[in-house]
Amino acid sequence: MTEAEAGARMANLRRDITEHNRRYYEEAAPTISDRDYDHLYRELVELEKSFPHLASDDSPTRRVGGTPLKQFGTVTHRVPMLSLDNTYSIDELLEFYARISRLLPGEKVPVVIEPKVDGVAVSLLYENGALSYAATRGDGNTGDDITQNVLTIRSVPRRLKGSHAPAIFEVRGEVYMDKNGFTKLNADRAEQGLAQFANPRNAAAGSLKQLDPAMAARRPLGIILYGTGALDGVTLERHSDLFALLEKFGLPHTERYWTADSPDTLIAAIRELDRVRLRFAYQTDGAVVKVDSVAQRERLGFTSKAPRWAIAFKYEAERVQTTLHDILVQVGRTGVLTPVAVLEPVFVSGSTVSRATLHNEEEIARKDIRIGDTVVIEKAGEVIPAVVSVLTNGRTGAEKPFRMPEKCPECGSRVIKDAEQVAVRCVNVQCPAQMRRRIEHFASRGAMEIDGLGEKMVTQLVNAGLVHDVSDVYQLDATRLARIERMGEKSIRNLLNGIEQSKTRPLWRLIFALGILHVGETSSRELANHFGSIDALMNASGDELQRIPDVGEVVGASIHQFFQEPRNRQLIQRLEAFGVKPTVEPTAQKQSGIAGTTWVITGTLSEPRDHIAELIIARGGKVTGSISKKTTYLLAGAEAGSKLEKARKLGVKIISEEEFRALLE
Ligand code: IVH
Repeated sequence: MTEAEAGARMANLRRDITEHNRRYYEEAAPTISDRDYDHLYRELVELEKSFPHLASDDSPTRRVGGTPLKQFGTVTHRVPMLSLDNTYSIDELLEFYARISRLLPGEKVPVVIEPKVDGVAVSLLYENGALSYAATRGDGNTGDDITQNVLTIRSVPRRLKGSHAPAIFEVRGEVYMDKNGFTKLNADRAEQGLAQFANPRNAAAGSLKQLDPAMAARRPLGIILYGTGALDGVTLERHSDLFALLEKFGLPHTERYWTADSPDTLIAAIRELDRVRLRFAYQTDGAVVKVDSVAQRERLGFTSKAPRWAIAFKYEAERVQTTLHDILVQVGRTGVLTPVAVLEPVFVSGSTVSRATLHNEEEIARKDIRIGDTVVIEKAGEVIPAVVSVLTNGRTGAEKPFRMPEKCPECGSRVIKDAEQVAVRCVNVQCPAQMRRRIEHFASRGAMEIDGLGEKMVTQLVNAGLVHDVSDVYQLDATRLARIERMGEKSIRNLLNGIEQSKTRPLWRLIFALGILHVGETSSRELANHFGSIDALMNASGDELQRIPDVGEVVGASIHQFFQEPRNRQLIQRLEAFGVKPTVEPTAQKQSGIAGTTWVITGTLSEPRDHIAELIIARGGKVTGSISKKTTYLLAGAEAGSKLEKARKLGVKIISEEEFRALLE
């Protein structure tokens, strides 16, 4: 490669990697795999080594992550948050071990091997046992203050356990979304016609980025702590002592770690971790190998970007071949058609897989996937099975390309393609598939919560012609239900009971249960708070809807459109006629002057801060971790410190707990 060529390639790589960093860190929506990213990154590192005079100071190899988001307050890390060097190769891992052994001649070098948790790096600072803040890595020096969101993670204590807390205890770790919670979240999002998260890591990052902690609270997040930042009043001689310390303070840590002091024991540990890691609740993408002795770590030191005393070893995603027997098309609640691969069952990453999502027609065309092909599949992020590629050289010519049907596979109606999206929808609202899904959603736990009305029951009711829309559910009686096969007296009683009880659910549940496109749980609560009745919501103008904070244009337009449909208005009337009378929760009353305001809470108060935060959120306010010009009120309890000063400086209104209570009433 000539110097000119190298220079041009390096400039391209710098630009591309910076863009991928932005997508990964700031948008939590990467467009290339970790592996492809690592390839680009390594190529740049190699070129910078060969042509050092062409390396530039703003190279992404010299920095760590993205820049902080504007909306959050920022925190300057007392000790920079660095990243790790990583490798996919056992040889390079052994080279790492040989290198550190060389740098520490004549000494044994014990290392600790832990799971590499695939989540979002965070730092928690405890001062005298109390959590001061939680922050993201950001660019390594300055991160976002995400205290309020991290406080929604149940396993994060506000105070360290025990009475001997160090003056400063900064712990670092990874916030993750557990695999089951992730699957459920994506299923809910699909039902609402929202985009899917590609993997639990993106879902965790997206959740931490929520500016509304109430949103973050609904996401199933957890945390694993694995390192320290600033410390005062506590010393660690060995990293392995940290686990006992974390346990003592009531902080979550990895359930297993290994130690090794030779290449053989190191590799054995890496292999064993690979065997057990699929059973962990969180996703892992590798092992982190760290020198155990703090004294040895100090002698090894750091490069500009990463410690010399640690390395991440990444496991390859397990890939297997199987036959694609067919491509089915499923119809969702909102009529979206989704192609699904029907596979010869095959065991991959811990379970047998016989279905995989194919997302949409474009994706199938891009990968040239044909029915009858031998395909390579992997569990994307260990969770969702995906078709990675096709082995075209085994083709016989009998393979059939896939075409999205021009008619709905369930009801034969016309399908349309959404203008901006790639989604194809069935236009028939009476489509039995849509009908089933709508009723399932209406009755589901997050919505009207009708006991006894699950997927199977809904299918039976629809097939028997007993229900066509959700209002028909309230017309069911014992005589009608007796027509259903194998439906005993007791089940009939239970179901009727469940239906009766659902009539007085809170208003927000009814709004959510209607399944209006883009209207999730949070918007439903917002709308219930704002309008107080379904009739008021139904008669709201498009403008009025769009002006509500957190509703916005898209959601507002969707609600307006929904209630423009005479059929939907009739549905509401029928529900009312059948005795559905939603309740308005006391907290949902709109007065109180808190809606739309932004709060910071500090000092000692009569109740835990998160209880108080809930009171604010329930009234439509926001709670953040640090004072800025956007803060409306600082609620200051006893012994309020630096935040009080900052609020004074910025002219933020300071109120006492008493005044706050008065405001609530
Ligand atoms: S130790 C000085 N331990 O992986 C950096 N990191 O690819 C010390 N990670 O930046 C980091 N699990 O965000 C460490 N058990 C673990 C980890 C872990 C996941 C993350 C962390 C790190 C990244 C490096």
